[in-house]
Amino acid sequence: MEAWGFSLKLLITGASGLFGSKLAQMALARNFEVYSADIQSRTFYGQFVLLDISEKLKVHEAFRSIRPDVVVHAASLTDVDKCEMNKELAWKINVEGTKNIVEAAVETGSFLLYISTDYVFSGRKGSYKETDVPHPINYYGTTKLKAEEIVKAQSEYFIARPSVIYGSAPAAGKVNFALWLIETLQKGERVKIVTDQWNSPTLNTNLAEMILEVIERHLTGIYHLCGATRVSRLEFAQKIADAFGLDKRLIDPTSSSQFTWVALRPMDSSLDTSKAQRALKCKPLGMAEALGKLKLELSQK
Ligand SMILES: NC(=O)c1ccc[n+]([C@@H]2O[C@H](COP(=O)([O-])OP(=O)(O)OC[C@H]3O[C@@H](n4cnc5c(N)ncnc54)[C@H](OP(=O)(O)O)[C@@H]3O)[C@@H](O)[C@H]2O)c1
Repeated sequence: MEAWGFSLKLLITGASGLFGSKLAQMALARNFEVYSADIQSRTFYGQFVLLDISEKLKVHEAFRSIRPDVVVHAASLTDVDKCEMNKELAWKINVEGTKNIVEAAVETGSFLLYISTDYVFSGRKGSYKETDVPHPINYYGTTKLKAEEIVKAQSEYFIARPSVIYGSAPAAGKVNFALWLIETLQKGERVKIVTDQWNSPTLNTNLAEMILEVIERHLTGIYHLCGATRVSRLEFAQKIADAFGLDKRLIDPTSSSQFTWVALRPMDSSLDTSKAQRALKCKPLGMAEALGKLKLELSQK
């Protein structure tokens, strides 16, 4: 490891989640000492730490006992509609929880990486750069932006903004979009997919590799760490179908006005990855390469 030079203690929050579980698995393979914290013990790698991030004293206790060198804070209430319906809970987990993690990381002198989201942007422009001003249009995005501000008040931090994370295994009790689509099309069932929402789908293992490089090189600042290809949800579905030899004719294009979501969705929250492309050796992958990697990962299970 370039910047550390010893077996590093890594604490991951949200470590049973779609991203956190992969990060933990891949960090273990690189001989990190991994502490996987989550509110429930489901899929985890390394040593499990039962931790509700909204419980300040417990967070401080965990940090004092582990004394992590690095913390990747990925725990969040990620259900966008639930955040809109239960704002108090969303604030408690996403904002207060992040404040607890930040304060504990300051006390133990741990390097903090926060996993934010493309939903901090309104979606009216698309291809957002790190220098664009965020303007969330739903409560989930509002809490994630507030959490970014709390993280940014520290002298040293890293904020990653991914977008629509997908991967080869269900996690945190949920099947991600790519897996759901593959399974549904394999059963020969029809699906309705929207044509009017764009983003930058992110393969969880690609994100984990980039985060591991950030840790190893001790990079700081805000980076859009997501897939390198901007696609509509329909294009994403069609590309998945093509990559897995599934029948695209089962995909019915539809408009987001046909769905009744509680929270507003940004129309185009795609992210520009040029800063990450320049800075990292492990690059944000284009869609074709990422889907090839997903296929390989699924075949190895
Ligand atoms: N998934 C995406 O498309 C996406 C896109 C952009 C950004 N992100 C961000 O990326 C990060 C990782 O996302 P993900 O998809 O891996 O999320 P995920 O699969 O939903 O995992 C989040 C984990 O955090 C846990 N958690 C919730 N409340 C907690 C609490 N009070 N204390 C401790 N743990 C708690 C969850 O447990 P429960 O399941 O029991 O609640 C879950 O295991 C999140 O910060 C998210 O905001 C995700």
